[in-house]
Amino acid sequence: MSYNTIISKIENNITTITINRPKKLNALNQETLAELHEALNTADKDKNTKVIIITGSGEKAFVAGADISEFADYNSEEGTALANKGQTLVFDFIENLTTPVIAAVNGFALGGGLELAMAAHFRVASDNSKFGLPEVSLGVIPGYGGTQRLPQLIGKGRAMEMIMTAGMIDTNQALNYGLVNHVTTLDELLPLCEKIAAKISRNSTVAITAAIKAINANYKDGVNGFNIEMQAFGNCFNTKDFKEGTTAFLQKRKATFPGE
Ligand code: COA
Repeated sequence: MSYNTIISKIENNITTITINRPKKLNALNQETLAELHEALNTADKDKNTKVIIITGSGEKAFVAGADISEFADYNSEEGTALANKGQTLVFDFIENLTTPVIAAVNGFALGGGLELAMAAHFRVASDNSKFGLPEVSLGVIPGYGGTQRLPQLIGKGRAMEMIMTAGMIDTNQALNYGLVNHVTTLDELLPLCEKIAAKISRNSTVAITAAIKAINANYKDGVNGFNIEMQAFGNCFNTKDFKEGTTAFLQKRKATFPGE
């Protein structure tokens, strides 16, 4: 499938989705969000995709935010609808995907760009990256989950300061805050993400899916994550992956998981 604003390619069981509007620092417009949804959905349903990597095109930006030119004239209803559509199609969608999603942050991750990286299951960054939620400098607030996910990831006080100041932090601070798991050079960014993805791919996809759901349950209102974990743990015992994983261990060989 070909897209106008993104590139999606699969290699070695990894689908890499690159946001490809480098002249606009990969800002997210409506077309990009729709294409992202389509590519993510396709990759998630594809049995050959074991990990999804999201990155930005060029050497300057991951994503410099939602496309400001698109919403500058919006009224209140249109603003709410914009946030609702974006969260449903892309941000919540990514967080709840059953395929692991890594954000490979290769430069500016601002506004919707940082929100996109935060919706991923975890983040790896190149050392030229800068992170921020500058929305209040435009008279608006983060609308793609930033006020919720940033405090979850770095703590309330730090999130308050980042959002109120609209400032940017560098990779040292992002690493220190736990916003990113690893920092590397731009050249090594995708190879490192691919190495991590390969490690993930060797494990049971069925168990990984269950783990994502159980971890996410901790962040859902009115849901008891411990109960979800217990149920998901029990369900694993009925899977072929569990039989293969435990049998392989006892036979002192590497497991070959059927993914069922
Ligand atoms: N929406 C729309 N266009 C954007 C954009 C965004 N969020 N971020 C960057 N662009 C565009 C610029 O308008 C410019 O387009 P032009 O060449 O047609 O004028 C192009 O991308 C390059 O950006 P520019 O600002 O010239 O690069 P810079 O190196 O001087 O500054 C940034 C880089 C990231 C600091 C600056 O682009 C910026 O502050 N962007 C907006 C960040 C933001 O507020 N995001 C949150 C949105 S809710």
